[in-house]
Amino acid sequence: MKPKIPLQEKDDREFWDGFYLDKRAVDFPSPFAVYCNKKLPQKSKIFELGCGNGRDALFFLREGHDITACDLSEVAIKSLQRTGSGYFFIGNFTRLEKRQSTELFDAVYSRFSLHAVDEEAASRTLRWTYDSLLPKGFFFMEVRSTKDKLCGQGKEVGKNEFITDHYRRFIDRNEIISELRTIGFNVIEDIEGEGLAPHHDEDPVVIRIVAQKN
Ligand SMILES: C[S@@+](CC[C@H](N)C(=O)[O-])C[C@H]1O[C@@H](n2cnc3c(N)ncnc32)[C@H](O)[C@@H]1O
Repeated sequence: MKPKIPLQEKDDREFWDGFYLDKRAVDFPSPFAVYCNKKLPQKSKIFELGCGNGRDALFFLREGHDITACDLSEVAIKSLQRTGSGYFFIGNFTRLEKRQSTELFDAVYSRFSLHAVDEEAASRTLRWTYDSLLPKGFFFMEVRSTKDKLCGQGKEVGKNEFITDHYRRFIDRNEIISELRTIGFNVIEDIEGEGLAPHHDEDPVVIRIVAQKN
């Protein structure tokens, strides 16, 4: 077993700042956001983990929902703060504080962000997510699967963890479902495959999960 190299959040922050500064991110909503929106009650209170340039957060706002969202990238968040809508803050979603019962959410949304952190940090985030949802609240998650062709490319730094131009930890479908169930979630939908998150000429194998707090 190779020694585990801790995730350098600082390094990835620089990568994502550069990515948003260079305007490499697309600004139309992802198919996953459109899919989740159909399941949301009107005027839902949503928390987004790792919102990036806000392509989905701004879509949820236009659809009449209330958004709180964080990202490590100062470039992305400062630009979202200038829109004057929603509540966007620079922060590490793996280190969020416990919320009071009056501050809970109808949904927590994570697209392509939980595969950006190591296993321990992701587990902490999933437990925070459960604790931060109202009863019957939704957890929406889309991540790269271990079946994605990028899994195995770049420098291996741990189990299913690779660094190319940035860090990714590819997710095993059975493991994530089992973890969510152990936390207390009811996993109501899980899909794995291509065709769900095409991006330019890439069509990654992703896992989509809709889970609900019991
Ligand atoms: C692949 S991008 C996805 C952005 C957006 N969700 C989307 O679908 O376009 C991953 C994002 O997660 C953010 N991120 C990674 N680790 C994070 C962490 N620990 N806390 C907050 N944001 C993080 C990155 O800064 C980046 O914006």
